[in-house]
Amino acid sequence: MQYQVFTDYDALSEHAAQFMLELVRQKPTAVICVASGDTPLGTFQKVVANALPNDFAEATFVALDEWVGIDPQNPGSCRSYVEKPLIEPLKIPAERVCFFDGMATNLAEECARVNEFVARRGGLDLIFVGIGTNGHIGLNEPGSSFENYAHISDLQDVTIAGGQKYFQDATPLTQGVTLGLRHFLEAKTAIVIANGPRKKGIIGRVLNEPINTALPASVLHQHPNGYLWVDEAANAKN
Ligand code: PGA
Repeated sequence: MQYQVFTDYDALSEHAAQFMLELVRQKPTAVICVASGDTPLGTFQKVVANALPNDFAEATFVALDEWVGIDPQNPGSCRSYVEKPLIEPLKIPAERVCFFDGMATNLAEECARVNEFVARRGGLDLIFVGIGTNGHIGLNEPGSSFENYAHISDLQDVTIAGGQKYFQDATPLTQGVTLGLRHFLEAKTAIVIANGPRKKGIIGRVLNEPINTALPASVLHQHPNGYLWVDEAANAKN
C-alpha cells in the first residue's frame, strides 16, 4: 500500500482527478467503480471540469453501493451522489453505468446482476472509494469477508447515524447493498481517499493495524496496487 499526504482537500482531489483522467486516456474502455459520499465530490468536480470531450466516450462506471429501501431519486441515495455530480455532466449513457437498485424486490438477484455486469466487462480497472469512521469501504462493514462479491450488508449504528447527513429528513437505514472486498482486491488499482480531522483516527488504524476483517480498509495492505491518499488534516503519520 502506498500512502501519500496532500496539503489540503483541493490538492488531494486534483491528484485523484488527474489519476482518473490519465487512466481513461491510456485505456479508454476502462471500468471504474466510484463511491458515493462527500469525500469523492471534489474529485468528481475536477474530473468533470478537466475532461476532454472524448475522454469518457467508452468508459464504464459502476456505483459502489446503495442504501436498501431508498428510492434512487432521493437526493440522499448513493445513486444521486454519483449520478448528479459525475455521470450526468459526463453524459455517460445508461448502458455504460451500473447502479444498485436498493428497492429491488429480490436483493440477492440484484447483487448477482451487478456481479455479472462487472464480470462480463472483465472486472474493474479502478475502484475509487472513501472510508467510514468505522473502517468500512462501501458498505462492507467490520466483519465483512474479504471473499465477498456484491452482497447485502447489515449496517452498524455508526453507519446509520453517519448516513443521516446525506438526507434532509431522518431516514431509517438498516441495510445496504455493496460491491464486496473481493471486487476491491481484484480491481487492477484500488484507491482510498480521506480528508478532514474526523478521519484521522481511522487512518491511523489502517496504517498501524495488520490485515483483519474487523477493519475492512485493512484489505488495502493486501492489494498489489493499493493507494491511500489523505489530506494533511486526516494524516496520521508524523
Ligand atoms: P463520506 O463517507 O465520504 O461522506 O465521509 C465515507 C464513507 O462512509 O464511506
